[in-house]
Amino acid sequence: MEHALDITLTVNGTSVSRRVQARQHLVDFLREELGLTGSHVGCEHGVCGACTLRVDGKLVRGCLMLAVQANGCRVDTVEGLSDSKELARLQKAFHEKNALQCGFCTPGMLLAAQDLISSSRKPTREEIRLHISGNYCRCTGYQAIVDAIEEVVNG
Ligand code: FES
Ligand code: FES
Repeated sequence: MEHALDITLTVNGTSVSRRVQARQHLVDFLREELGLTGSHVGCEHGVCGACTLRVDGKLVRGCLMLAVQANGCRVDTVEGLSDSKELARLQKAFHEKNALQCGFCTPGMLLAAQDLISSSRKPTREEIRLHISGNYCRCTGYQAIVDAIEEVVNG
């Protein structure tokens, strides 16, 4: 039988304590134990960025981090950031620019974009492309996504 451990972490501002399997990934913990399904699971190998989360303020791949590694950490998901000013503006711009089709990549893309914008610089189009280069989108061809982020940056 697999080893289980008790963890306590702060998820979207709320303290959460659970017993988890030692090898459960953080994104699976959030989706399956807490019902936070905004973070998606694509490749499960750290490649696609669909599972992007914030842990202690830094963007991480939720499929590469174990839930037990988040013990004592502050974890933010797209659900928790939905009140933030940048995310609201990004969501509006994504909608207006048709920057999503199936939407599978969108939560991770929004978190990556929000991270860039909240660093309070004025990134160039190339820098925007570089910053989202770890977030794959199979539908849009990226043009509309970069347009949407650029609009918020320049707004
Ligand atoms: S599911 Fe984590 S990077 Fe693809
Ligand atoms: S909108 Fe479908 S993967 Fe990006």
